Amino acid sequence: MKAALDMKPGAGQIKISLLLTQRKSNRAKEKKARRLEERAAMDAVCAKVDAANKLDDPLNTFPAFKKYDRNGLNLQIECKRVTSLNPLSVEWAFELTRANMQTLYEQSEWGWKEREKREEMNDERAWYLLARDADSSPVAFSHFRFDVECGEEVLYCYEVQLESKVRRKGLGKFLIQILQLIANSTQMKKVMLTVFKHNHGAYQFFRDALQFEIDETSPSMSGCCGDDCSYEILSRRTKHGEASAGHTHGGGHCGGCCH
Ligand SMILES: CC(C)(COP(=O)(O)OP(=O)(O)OC[C@H]1O[C@@H](n2cnc3c(N)ncnc32)[C@H](O)[C@@H]1OP(=O)(O)O)[C@@H](O)C(=O)NCCC(=O)NCCS
Repeated sequence: MKAALDMKPGAGQIKISLLLTQRKSNRAKEKKARRLEERAAMDAVCAKVDAANKLDDPLNTFPAFKKYDRNGLNLQIECKRVTSLNPLSVEWAFELTRANMQTLYEQSEWGWKEREKREEMNDERAWYLLARDADSSPVAFSHFRFDVECGEEVLYCYEVQLESKVRRKGLGKFLIQILQLIANSTQMKKVMLTVFKHNHGAYQFFRDALQFEIDETSPSMSGCCGDDCSYEILSRRTKHGEASAGHTHGGGHCGGCCH
């Protein structure tokens, strides 16, 4: 009997219990509001990526960039989704990538995986910038995608590959400039790419000549495997990305060797 009386809560205990319940419910409400906010932000990011992917030709906004007539080169530049490209052009791009990159891949922890590279280059999300000479033969290309990286809408440059006869004539810089313009006009936050540290020429091209920065998701920045990784993730923010620098959301796919 005594024990039962002792277990009856007093007014003070009821008050505390009500307060705790109230606090719990406030926390749950805040959590829900945060979740909704995050989902709305992610929906907005995805909407931008979807809108960019629906474009017919992102280069139409910059007709002056459809030709490159400098340093002895006279080239036409087109921008197409892989699904609209002649399969022979994609095969040429694959062979050029193999010629330029196979040894560098073999010297890295990734190795050269022919089937995977071919699949990547034919993936329906792939966009191509293609430079052709007067005979319509392709001489350089960039494979890029509109994508979400660590919760941010980005233009990811998967490849930029030039035949050796057209190198050091400003064409690589011009193609990356086009990517930067497209990223700006589609409201992407940055242009990103991955470069092998032992690809010294390309590393200097991106870091010194084009002033790309080491991205916060790069292994050397996140500290997950630092010096052991043979690559860096580089990026350059667009005007849309400058405001949000350093404020990435948690969602989306984060690049880097720990993922
Ligand atoms: C890397 C690559 C895209 C550069 O394109 P490019 O048209 O040759 O380069 P640009 O002429 O636009 O060079 C602009 C500046 O970048 C720097 N640069 C370019 N290539 C360089 C190299 N091999 N070594 C050092 N600096 C280099 C220079 O400062 C150059 O200016 P300069 O020629 O007046 O000195 C091209 O060499 C290439 O396709 N390489 C093989 C494939 C490859 O490695 N792709 C990159 C994969 S991440």
